[in-house]
Amino acid sequence: MTQTVPVISPLVIPSSLDPGDPAAADFIAAGQLLNDHMLELWGNTDFHDSPATQLAGCRPSPVRRRVLLAARSGREILGLATLSLPLADNTHSASVKVVVAPQARRAGLGSRLYAAVEQAAAAGGRRTILSETDHPERPAAGSGGTLAPKSGAGSIPADAAAVFASKSGFSLEQVERISRLDLAATAVGQEALDAAAAAAGADYGLEFWRGACPERLVDAYARLKQTMSVAPPMAGLDVEEEQWDAARVREAERKALDMDAEVLVSAVRHLPTGALAGHTVLMVFNSNPAVAFQDDTLVLREHRGHRLGMLLKAANLVRLREELPETARIWTWNAAENEHMLAINDELGFQPAGYSGEWQKVIGGAS
Ligand SMILES: CC(C)(COP(=O)(O)OP(=O)(O)OC[C@H]1O[C@@H](n2cnc3c(N)ncnc32)[C@H](O)[C@@H]1OP(=O)(O)O)[C@@H](O)C(=O)NCCC(=O)NCCS
Repeated sequence: MTQTVPVISPLVIPSSLDPGDPAAADFIAAGQLLNDHMLELWGNTDFHDSPATQLAGCRPSPVRRRVLLAARSGREILGLATLSLPLADNTHSASVKVVVAPQARRAGLGSRLYAAVEQAAAAGGRRTILSETDHPERPAAGSGGTLAPKSGAGSIPADAAAVFASKSGFSLEQVERISRLDLAATAVGQEALDAAAAAAGADYGLEFWRGACPERLVDAYARLKQTMSVAPPMAGLDVEEEQWDAARVREAERKALDMDAEVLVSAVRHLPTGALAGHTVLMVFNSNPAVAFQDDTLVLREHRGHRLGMLLKAANLVRLREELPETARIWTWNAAENEHMLAINDELGFQPAGYSGEWQKVIGGAS
């Protein structure tokens, strides 16, 4: 019997998940491929997204457009490449991901998908391609040796994903530590919050919101989001500051609602000036309520050294327990060289669970 060569073509982002719509069936199958890959990698469903969340995440917005390419054999989807194109800033860059079904690997399909997605990025005027590979703490099958990033901090195993990225022309710029906090195993709660509040002193007060930022804080919050976009160590990644205003905050809130995500924000206010000095964000998808994701944590430079990082994180943890008691664990990603954030996370009880590689390829051409 002759094997047919999979055909690569764009995968339509459907307008709905109507089961009678072939584009919706294709989209669901592609999303299943991504979820299956997460299960293969992590051995659990913590990183599974529902089709509705995946669809909402792929819909175009003023700040981002997504392109999906599928490799099909007949109706079966054997591989997927995703391209994310920033539209409001960072218009020189794009992020990509390539996933091939296990039964179709080592036959050149990943390379073909990558070539197609790179071409789509170039056609969109992008010169820098970014990609991330995940590496759970347990040794990956067939892994031999390790790779060190240009930043010099941390390492990842030279497994299939890493070798594939290197062979596709990417350089490993940075490594992030992936950590997990099991909420049942941490004693951090009101007591730690009270201690951090005492250490911060009377000049600082907490704000909290779930979902929409209060109107009186939204401009200040937009400024924090903009600062956050380049505040963590970036190693050699070609990332520029994002442009945020109140409208973008509202757009991000709408997107989170569409993705069926709960967003919990704690912020700290410098009382003498009234200015916001920092914030931290937790996200929980309602389709996977045991799992929370740590998003931003920022303390503005002029307010560092007052235990505000711990204050913010302890405050959001206490609120998480009150507001979403089904949550059992939190996942977070930190640059391996981000000692201060890692020290706070260690104090909270986060345990290393793996590493991610932050890759970059400059394809030149456009500016
Ligand atoms: C990484 C992945 C996309 C590769 O897909 P693929 O179709 O097997 O890739 P190719 O057949 O085109 O392989 C290209 C090269 O990658 C490297 N590679 C791929 N799989 C590898 C493995 N298991 N071990 C070592 N090197 C490997 C090889 O250098 C290979 O070239 P070669 O076959 O000439 O030696 C696939 O393994 C996958 O889907 N993994 C899970 C998702 C992922 O990690 N994606 C990468 C991050 S975006």
